[in-house]
Amino acid sequence: MYNIAVLPGDGIGPEVIREGIKVLIRVGEKFGHKFSFQEASIGGHALDTAGKPLPEKTLELCKNSDAVLLGAVGGPQWDNNPPDLKPEKGLLGIRKELGLFANLRPATLYSSLIQASSLKHELLDGVDILVIRELTGGLYFGSPRGFHQKDGEQVAVNTLSYSESEVRRIAKVAFEAARKRKRKVCSVDKANVLETSQLWRRVVTDVGKSYPDVELSHMYVDNCAMQLIRNPKQFDVIVTENMFGDILSDEAAMLTGSIGMLPSASLGGKVGLYEPVHGSAPDIAGQGKANPIAAIASVAMMLKYSFNLEQEAQSISEAIEEALRQGYRTADIFSSDGKLVKTSEMGDLIAKNI
Ligand code: IPM
Ligand code: MG
Repeated sequence: MYNIAVLPGDGIGPEVIREGIKVLIRVGEKFGHKFSFQEASIGGHALDTAGKPLPEKTLELCKNSDAVLLGAVGGPQWDNNPPDLKPEKGLLGIRKELGLFANLRPATLYSSLIQASSLKHELLDGVDILVIRELTGGLYFGSPRGFHQKDGEQVAVNTLSYSESEVRRIAKVAFEAARKRKRKVCSVDKANVLETSQLWRRVVTDVGKSYPDVELSHMYVDNCAMQLIRNPKQFDVIVTENMFGDILSDEAAMLTGSIGMLPSASLGGKVGLYEPVHGSAPDIAGQGKANPIAAIASVAMMLKYSFNLEQEAQSISEAIEEALRQGYRTADIFSSDGKLVKTSEMGDLIAKNI
């Protein structure tokens, strides 16, 4: 029996998570596993129902589960909340509390979706990038932070800070991951300007000495943003700090046709957390327009990384691929020769393909 904490969150979170669970139940039937689901609130939903973005009850449930499945957080109704009462604080809080420093975001192109990307086909065929984003340090968490008054005006401060041990452990994750892939790590930083990046580069280089079979390169983040568009096939594993990883993973998502395709796994603690890379997309929430594939693929990552169920995970990837090959498309990846389906229909189709 696998106990899964389910945090649907806001916007399209609940509707895509529903499809993830649908597929997981199907996998359970097919392969003879039992999954139990316990739901809790996070983000804006938690603010509205419990007055805080990460209630203790939610955190307790997650800590006592075998894995966490999360939808998305945020929405315009909470945009003007004070910093500690923003939905996003719930997400950052749970990542930190569970010690999830390693965020894996695979941008893999399904060949039948090649026309959904805004780039030329020949640049994309075979794109398979794993962005490894440091998730509990850097600009998102550094102190001091906040607003203060100076010389009669308001000033805001955030701090970018990394310790050697923080860089070392994420670098190891990247090299280990590369060993199971094409054995290439590109470490992305801004070492021509930032001291944190100079330390980052030094430590990653040092860790790399223990992985002589993995080719290590370094790239400035601005160049990386360009190279991802110019020649994405040069990349295998990209490892980078929290905020650079946030930005570059959205960019990498578009290589695959839509941000609605990108799953993620957040690892490093006792309990792994799995969430689509996309946000809560409040503008399309509740209309059946959301693409559930990122959430469903996140479930596949859960099977692989938290439960060691490789074959089961593979069955989900194949079921997704099959649905796409059959021509089914949600609105974000639709083109005139496809069959437009709603969120729940896409979930049904993928479940049926298991
Ligand atoms: C992501 C999201 C989050 C982040 C937001 C919602 C806080 O953009 O997971 O990429 O910036 O980490
Ligand atoms: Mg993001």
